[in-house]
Amino acid sequence: MFEVNNISMIYDMDTDEKMYALGGFDLSLPDKGLVGISGPSGSGKSTLMYCLSTLKKPTEGSVRYNGIEITEIPDRERETLRRKEFGFVFQKHYLVPYMSALDNILVAASDSGKETVEKAKELLKTMGLKERDFRKKPAKLSGGQCQRAAIARALINDPKVIFADEPTASLDHENAFNIMKILKEYSKERLVIVVTHDRTVLTDVDIMIEMWDGKISNISGQDR
Ligand SMILES: Nc1ncnc2c1ncn2[C@@H]1O[C@H](COP(=O)(O)OP(=O)(O)O)[C@@H](O)[C@H]1O
Ligand SMILES: [Mg+2]
Repeated sequence: MFEVNNISMIYDMDTDEKMYALGGFDLSLPDKGLVGISGPSGSGKSTLMYCLSTLKKPTEGSVRYNGIEITEIPDRERETLRRKEFGFVFQKHYLVPYMSALDNILVAASDSGKETVEKAKELLKTMGLKERDFRKKPAKLSGGQCQRAAIARALINDPKVIFADEPTASLDHENAFNIMKILKEYSKERLVIVVTHDRTVLTDVDIMIEMWDGKISNISGQDR
């Protein structure tokens, strides 16, 4: 699904000292499965994820998604690709504070109508939220509930790829475990990429990518 070649990323181009957030490497990822990207803070995990998901453009190198060179397509096409095929989960849930949990899902949906409302409710239910919580605003929900609603929002358009950047970092262990279980389940049919500095949440990944100083220091599970 992804073919990355010789990817590098330099942030501060105008300073003398070039800082490579990504230091030139290749990577190939399959159509489905749970991919963990781990490594210390500053090792380039988020940068790699943003380059894969078109949120950032690498300084050099190629990123192909199903054969499309996504570093070269126009912004409009990139936006369409993100909207239609990708789902995002971040450390913060970024739910709209004045909207209910349910409306937060619906506002992200590409379709509207009764079926979509049913689907959003079904997703919230799968995420472990109770009917009585659907109409609550984020302030009335727990951190774990908000994050699960954010995952429901990421899933509403059946994305082919889920990008999750530190999705469990603001959660206690039990909630973190539940989020990972949900992502694992989704990865049986689709590709799920989870970036985290906390390796303890990546117990059940299909591919494990370890990053160090802008490079992949180890990758395991790829040829199973
Ligand atoms: N927008 C930015 N501008 C300048 N430097 C950045 C920016 N984002 C990240 N960096 C630098 O790039 C390196 C990799 O960052 P990042 O990908 O966020 O790492 P990680 O997600 O592993 O913590 C770090 O040294 C970081 O300081
Ligand atoms: Mg990061």
